[in-house]
Amino acid sequence: MRSHSAGVNGPLERRRAVALDRLPDNRHAPGVAPDSPRAAAPSAAPAAAPERASPTGSLPDDALLAALPAVAARLPRARLGAWPTPVEPCPLGRDLWLKREDLSAPLYGGNKVRCLEPVLGELVRRGVRRAVGTGAWGSNQAVALAIHGPRCGVETGAILFPQPASRAAAHNLRSLLAARGDVRLLAHIALFPFAWLSARRAGLTVIPPGAAVPRGALGHLGAALEVVFAVRAGQLPMPRHIVLAVGSTCTTAGLLTGFAAARALGLIERVPTIHGVRVTPWPVTAHRRIVTLAVGTAALLARLGGPDVCARAPLRAALTVTGRELGWGYGHATAAGRGAIAAFDGVDGPHLDTTYAGKAAAWALAEADRLDGPVLFWATKSAVQPPMIDPAAASERAGARVSRWLARGVRSG
Ligand SMILES: Cc1ncc(COP(=O)(O)O)c(C=O)c1O
Repeated sequence: MRSHSAGVNGPLERRRAVALDRLPDNRHAPGVAPDSPRAAAPSAAPAAAPERASPTGSLPDDALLAALPAVAARLPRARLGAWPTPVEPCPLGRDLWLKREDLSAPLYGGNKVRCLEPVLGELVRRGVRRAVGTGAWGSNQAVALAIHGPRCGVETGAILFPQPASRAAAHNLRSLLAARGDVRLLAHIALFPFAWLSARRAGLTVIPPGAAVPRGALGHLGAALEVVFAVRAGQLPMPRHIVLAVGSTCTTAGLLTGFAAARALGLIERVPTIHGVRVTPWPVTAHRRIVTLAVGTAALLARLGGPDVCARAPLRAALTVTGRELGWGYGHATAAGRGAIAAFDGVDGPHLDTTYAGKAAAWALAEADRLDGPVLFWATKSAVQPPMIDPAAASERAGARVSRWLARGVRSG
């Protein structure tokens, strides 16, 4: 069953989970229609007894719990998403498939919901009441944190550095400003380390861009396991290749670890090759850096009682990284990316964005028919737009420079 409400599972969390029951589901509630899933009370109870996928039957809504119940019991997680996300064929390639991470949560989805589940779970466990998201002005992570954090009783803010304007980025920033949280918009990326330090000195918990830490990446273990369960249920052939945008590296590293764990558990014979399509430049997305995060994620998995997949060489061998679609850099739209967005729109596929998923899709469409075996494209941009709680507040808070940027974004598409 899909759960749309926030909660935390794991025995360690039981006391906290009770407290969570009494917290308002979402501090953005004034902007929520009464029949919205967000208006529902949070389900804070620990997840039910381990649910196992039958080879051809229904899929578990908690793949981590189904495959690794001991790990799931030790890993505090906020339950934010609607799992599993669907897989479906894509008519734009011979053997091309989609993992619909865009549908990961009805309030605001995309790949960042996965990273936030364990990160917020841990914050709740530690009793942290306030966290700051970081990233670019149009950060999906900061928006996802602002929407899902309050569902777990964590108030949020953001420290953001400038990026090229785009429609999706403008919508995100307007949503953040409209939510009335504490948003600090830096004039230049060079100021970012100082702003981060000063927030830390002020005692705030700062979540790094993309939540690219082992605990965030571990959230994607469930996604890899969902694919494996979907394969066993006959929904798609085992992918030989997975294509996704790599920005902070959190998602890519988590998938590398996840498929390695699936193989160690004997659920698959061979791991797919993961192709990270750079949307941020080297060295942020250096091959070695992604593998290092995957190894760190694997170490955390082992500490939690999971299989030991810490060996570097197999993780390294399962990853390719390409910079071919990056164009002028992070946030700069490319013609190939726009072409891929139009192609997906043309077949009623997930709507992609110019910063992330469009660039990755451009690579996938160009390469899918050349790669050997089934290709699974990771659709990472939320299908739903973030809510606009108080549009007047957004305009008021924007100031001249940001207002111009927002207008440019809306025009740029
Ligand atoms: C829509 C979207 N796709 C892909 C990515 C890249 O994921 P990661 O930062 O985990 O590498 C991001 C990161 O923010 C994103 O927002």
